[in-house]
Amino acid sequence: MVNARLPLIAGNWKMNLDHMQAIATVQKLAWTLDEAKHDAGASEVAIFPPFTDLRSVQTLVDADKYPIAYGGQDLSVHDAGAYTGEISGAFLARLGCRYALIGHSERRQYHGETDETCQKKVEAALRHSLIPVLCVGETAADLEEFGASAVPIGQLKAALDGVSPDADIVVAYEPVWAIGSGQAATEEQAEQVCAALRATLAEMLGEDFAGRTRILYGGSVKSSNIASFMRQPNIDGALVGGASLDVAEFASIVRFYKHVI
Ligand code: PGA
Repeated sequence: MVNARLPLIAGNWKMNLDHMQAIATVQKLAWTLDEAKHDAGASEVAIFPPFTDLRSVQTLVDADKYPIAYGGQDLSVHDAGAYTGEISGAFLARLGCRYALIGHSERRQYHGETDETCQKKVEAALRHSLIPVLCVGETAADLEEFGASAVPIGQLKAALDGVSPDADIVVAYEPVWAIGSGQAATEEQAEQVCAALRATLAEMLGEDFAGRTRILYGGSVKSSNIASFMRQPNIDGALVGGASLDVAEFASIVRFYKHVI
């Protein structure tokens, strides 16, 4: 089958850039991509700013028709009610979000998110027509004990339990040891796990679902290593943390198709 999956380059800003900085950053990103004649048919761009930036990002993107999608870094399992501090998927959808990040390792590690929480968040996102970007990945200790694929596959199975084969989701494979460490996985390691994740999707939800679902790699992605990941048949893009805060660097990652040979 021809690989018809549109590559997705997603920038996870984490807890960086307030709404004023977000405005400057999004304008600069749009301008940089425009100057470089970015081909939106070659890669889709998405950003995940902090919640407090989303209204400003929406206003800019809408007014100037920027080809930049955006999403929340998390969402509540609930739709509304007495859940202080939580953000509903309904609110994200109302702000024009296309995506919601779910189960990032920092949420799992610092906020006690379990596979069960992730499963409920995937359901919540789909209920509000948001595309879940489900993050899975093994820690250094998991890698040593179980090898690379076992933990991410387990997380994937648990979080997608009950999902319909018609759903639109994105999976991000992010080895925890590679996040923010400057030590990316090799393209062979990443491809091996992404292929195993795709085989799991096929088993769970059918070949069609597996064939159209985008699987991203994340963990110390930079403009200097993106091309090697994008050459792999089962890697359909990247989830970029630190490097997404530098507009020139991120724009260069978005335009990986200019340097993939
Ligand atoms: P990094 O982060 O690119 O800074 O390694 C990736 C992520 O946490 O999504």
